Amino acid sequence: MLQIQLKVRGAESRRFLPPIHTKASTRTSSSRTFPTFFLLLLFLLPARADEGMWLPMLIRQKIPQMQELGFRLTAEDIYSVNQACLKDAIVHFGGGCTGEVISAEGLLITNHHCGYGQIQAHSTVEHDYLKDGFWARTRKEELPNKGLSVTFLRRMEDVTQQVLEGVTDQMSEVERQGIIEANIKKIGEETLRGMDPGFYSVRITPAYYGNQYFLYLNQTFRDIRLVGAPPSSIGKFGGDTDNWMWPRHTGDFSLFRIYANTDNEPAEYSQDNVPYRPLHHLSISAKGVKPGDFTMVYGYPGRTQQYVLSSAVDYIANHSNPQKIHLRTLRLEVMNREQAKDQAVRIQYSNKNAGVSNSWKKWQGESRGILNANTIGKKQEFERLFQVWAEASGRQEYITLIPRMKELYKELEPYMFASEMYAEAVMAVELLRFANTLESTLVRSGTARAVEVAEDFFKDYYLPIDKEIFELLFAEFYRVMEPLGHLLPADAIHPLSSDTPLGGNPLSRDGLRFSRLAAYLYGTSALADRQKTMDLLAKDSASALDHIRQDPAFLLVSPFVEKNHTGIQPRIAEINRELNLLYRTWMQAIMEFDNNRIFYPDANSTLRVTYGTVQGYSPADAVMYLPVSTIEGIMQKDNPEIFDYNIPQSLRDIYAAREFGRWETDGTVPVCFIATNHTSGGNSGSPVLNGDGHLLGLNFDRVWEGTMSDIEFNLSVCRNISVDIRYVLFIMDKIGNAKYLIDELDIIE
Ligand code: ARG
Ligand code: GLU
Repeated sequence: MLQIQLKVRGAESRRFLPPIHTKASTRTSSSRTFPTFFLLLLFLLPARADEGMWLPMLIRQKIPQMQELGFRLTAEDIYSVNQACLKDAIVHFGGGCTGEVISAEGLLITNHHCGYGQIQAHSTVEHDYLKDGFWARTRKEELPNKGLSVTFLRRMEDVTQQVLEGVTDQMSEVERQGIIEANIKKIGEETLRGMDPGFYSVRITPAYYGNQYFLYLNQTFRDIRLVGAPPSSIGKFGGDTDNWMWPRHTGDFSLFRIYANTDNEPAEYSQDNVPYRPLHHLSISAKGVKPGDFTMVYGYPGRTQQYVLSSAVDYIANHSNPQKIHLRTLRLEVMNREQAKDQAVRIQYSNKNAGVSNSWKKWQGESRGILNANTIGKKQEFERLFQVWAEASGRQEYITLIPRMKELYKELEPYMFASEMYAEAVMAVELLRFANTLESTLVRSGTARAVEVAEDFFKDYYLPIDKEIFELLFAEFYRVMEPLGHLLPADAIHPLSSDTPLGGNPLSRDGLRFSRLAAYLYGTSALADRQKTMDLLAKDSASALDHIRQDPAFLLVSPFVEKNHTGIQPRIAEINRELNLLYRTWMQAIMEFDNNRIFYPDANSTLRVTYGTVQGYSPADAVMYLPVSTIEGIMQKDNPEIFDYNIPQSLRDIYAAREFGRWETDGTVPVCFIATNHTSGGNSGSPVLNGDGHLLGLNFDRVWEGTMSDIEFNLSVCRNISVDIRYVLFIMDKIGNAKYLIDELDIIE
């Protein structure tokens, strides 16, 4: 993930301005001077109807517009501290996804790809739940999952005033930050007084780069059991071929249950625990969707960057993404070719391939989307108008803002780029990453843990893939880093050169050099070989460490790790600190300047509401996509020869007999749908609700052309992808024979 800036570190504002404000004198005078600005701005970067990720606590201001689109409930139904409401059915699942409670007995639904790790952990050759699916027939058969937890938001609060208490205009940033941190600590402790810290926690996070602060009181459950999952050929149908794409036909769901102690309170796993009785659970609408229908997504989007300067977007779209994409293309070509040759290698690299491919595909869509929408040009024009306005206002801190931020971006870029190249090239070589991890594991956790790390590594390691990737990535790495020689470790590769035919300029473009280096590295490193590594780890830990530190793989990687640690990351952190402070002022300034626009805080893994309507889109000239896919499309894609499209025979049989039962709609079964909800990574598993707050489906992806929505929401192509709840029910019923689970649900037909 790109981190060009803005890990907001509790910074906030000297002159706090609320998001919606009364006339500031500067604004009045400048709008008199430049009356056309605001008109112009409407065409530049307006907040469109469907754009935005809203804080549940502040949803009231959006209700009229939501009602116009078809929402039939009130703000209190979405978020309330006085009564049970929709928020009480939503969980942050395992920290990275969203899930929702769908029965009075704590039954929870999320995506298959969110439960993937747990399903895999319970799978063995005899019981391959990934391949065959899993359905607990009784409560006793539900499987506990070590380390898995789900978290409910119990309440949130605007704590800006308390956090800024004692902060004055005169104090230095360091002083100010100290006060803020102390206040945050104090508020957190006070909020948690009398609560069990094992199960309750407080998060206080900045919004708008520290112009506001919100407190979240969370309750975490730690006894979460696996209840059901379809076979991967349904839950991951289409695999990485269809990932980020429409039309889509993936049954991306899995079922868990939350367990509590007999007082209905969270507890560590125990056989005596009982199903949790939630404050609220979602009803399910089996009525389905049609184009134009209102939908709302309630979940935990991870990270967006809506307000960054054109420089940041230019870097992402034109510099960082293309280079990262290229490096990943090189890796994927090798993996795909080798995986196709050998069944065992295909399995070993399936998860790695999926991981590499997921962002690879997303970045392509993102860059393309940004260029097509001219996001950079629009931002530049916005910045130009802002500058004129700032100068007319005479406010020095506004006038210098953009020039200073652009300067900082110029300084940041080479470091950022180097950091990304280290991650995407040097550390993408499995052997090098392993050498580094093994050394630090030995130092920190000792031999037993190092043996586990090594076992995990070799289980899915295929040397020919890694060796070829090493050659390709290093040649490319040195090519692109040539102008940035000062950001390379001075002694890189040299440690090897005395024993190898590698003397000379490490920046040489001679591809042969890298293939000779690869032959040497993979031929002599003990860490490239399972047995040699295990023998090495059988020694006492001091001598094991000695050996690892003399190993060519470690000798090669450690100067890079060192350089990154001492010469690159600290500089990035330093520049970002200053940038973040300026972004705090930037947010105040643009709220004043562009005062017709409605602002929402960037996603930061806190609970958000987003809404829109079911709508197709046009991905290319003369092409129009419809918004609902059906089981017919599964059959069109079905192909036993192609792994991603090989469905279970049982599904073929049901289709042939057209036994769709109660889930049949217009003679078929709807599978997925797209809508204009503004979502992001982390919204996987989020409930997609209708105007009555009933569950229509589960969000699991976005369309490729619209992944730019993390930076700019472009209504013409930004769509979220959901699996239709009727397809989920159909699979539970017909493939899982899980009628007893369906009986637990409140289904509205
Ligand atoms: N693109 C979705 C997300 O970002 C789904 C990823 C999992 N599926 C896959 N085929 N790799 O998480
Ligand atoms: N699949 C993504 C996730 O796991 C959601 C897709 C997106 O980025 O919108 O969060």
